[in-house]
Amino acid sequence: MILVTGAAGFIGANFVLDWLAQSDEPVVNLDKLTYAGNLQSLASLQGDPRHHFVHGDIGDRALVDRLLAEHQPRAIVNFAAESHVDRSIHGPEDFIQTNVVGTFHLLESVRAYWSGLDETAKAAFRFLHVSTDEVYGTLGATDPAFTENNPYEPNSPYSASKAASDHLVRAYHHTYGLPVLTTNCSNNYGPFHFPEKLIPLMIVNALAGKPLPVYGDGMQIRDWLFVKDHCSAIRRVLEAGQPGETYNVGGWNEKPNIEIVRTVCALLDEMSPRADGKGYAEQVTYVKDRPGHDRRYAIDATKIHRELGWKPAETFETGIRKTVRWYLDNQAWVQQVQSGEYRQWIDRQYGAKG
Ligand code: NAD
Ligand code: TYD
Repeated sequence: MILVTGAAGFIGANFVLDWLAQSDEPVVNLDKLTYAGNLQSLASLQGDPRHHFVHGDIGDRALVDRLLAEHQPRAIVNFAAESHVDRSIHGPEDFIQTNVVGTFHLLESVRAYWSGLDETAKAAFRFLHVSTDEVYGTLGATDPAFTENNPYEPNSPYSASKAASDHLVRAYHHTYGLPVLTTNCSNNYGPFHFPEKLIPLMIVNALAGKPLPVYGDGMQIRDWLFVKDHCSAIRRVLEAGQPGETYNVGGWNEKPNIEIVRTVCALLDEMSPRADGKGYAEQVTYVKDRPGHDRRYAIDATKIHRELGWKPAETFETGIRKTVRWYLDNQAWVQQVQSGEYRQWIDRQYGAKG
């Protein structure tokens, strides 16, 4: 079996759903259920003996030691993290606690467990750490895309905390020989994405008749990847990646934020037109920029394609259409995640305009 951390969150939930759709290998899912964790996303697995949920913290050594001893996983996929840049600006401490200290404790538990395995199990074991392209910092308009050899230059408390965790993972390979793999992926979008992030926030606000808050001039560039393509990349790296190596994962799909927002508006105009006949783009509102906002991210995904044969299955056009459709068809999920805590965040971040 495999242990997956943070699998009640956006990417982890998609990963577990896809994993169990393709294999009968059981999953133990360790998640703290922060505001971002939502078991509703895994409701289709209710009663499925292949999914075992454990409520807990990756930094809880006693709990993780017990889970490892009891379930004897052949691999761990570490998604658990605080993941929202804007929240890291308002309150970095949780990011240091989970992303840095939590990953450290998890690595310590895993190292102790792995050291006790027999030689065959030891050689086959993998610790896959899911990271982000944001650790590489920001690019100028004409710079080449990030390769695995770019220096780390994180600019937000979020990316700095992820960079620190990546360094710890690397050190556990070089120092102790732990068979680790690291993936650095670009911005994901798709089903079960918490509506504090750009794409789901725009869909949800548009349908609610609220402003669509675009930071600064809206010309910041991100490289968007459909979440299920990220999940297939992680499965492929787990299966065939070289221990100690890092793999950049991206969609070859750079777009400025305002273009993303306009695309979402155009799809909603088509699939769920406004009652007054006007376009959703009328709701776009330019707001104050994020402090230290990285201008451009772009991933060069040549290595994972060349060495492991992975490439994305979706184009942005197909992926964003599926995503907008999913939000229209799953408004109960959206309502369920819009808890009191979520509303407080929207008020703090966007004030009355949100
Ligand atoms: P998310 O915020 O949606 O989910 C994070 C999950 O981790 C939640 O279920 C939360 O409850 C859980 N969690 C938080 N702290 C925990 C702790 N201490 N112990 C156990 N569980 C804890 O995040 P996501 O977007 O699904 O991202 C998952 C991973 O992928 C993160 O490591 C993130 O840095 C990375 N990543 C995300 C993106 C993206 O575009 N979303 C891109 C590249 C990499
Ligand atoms: P986000 O989804 O927060 O991901 P990240 O900051 O990790 O890339 O934001 C994606 C881009 O969209 C980023 O450039 C910030 C911008 N953005 C807005 O313009 N308005 C918003 O309300 C949000 C949440 C993000």
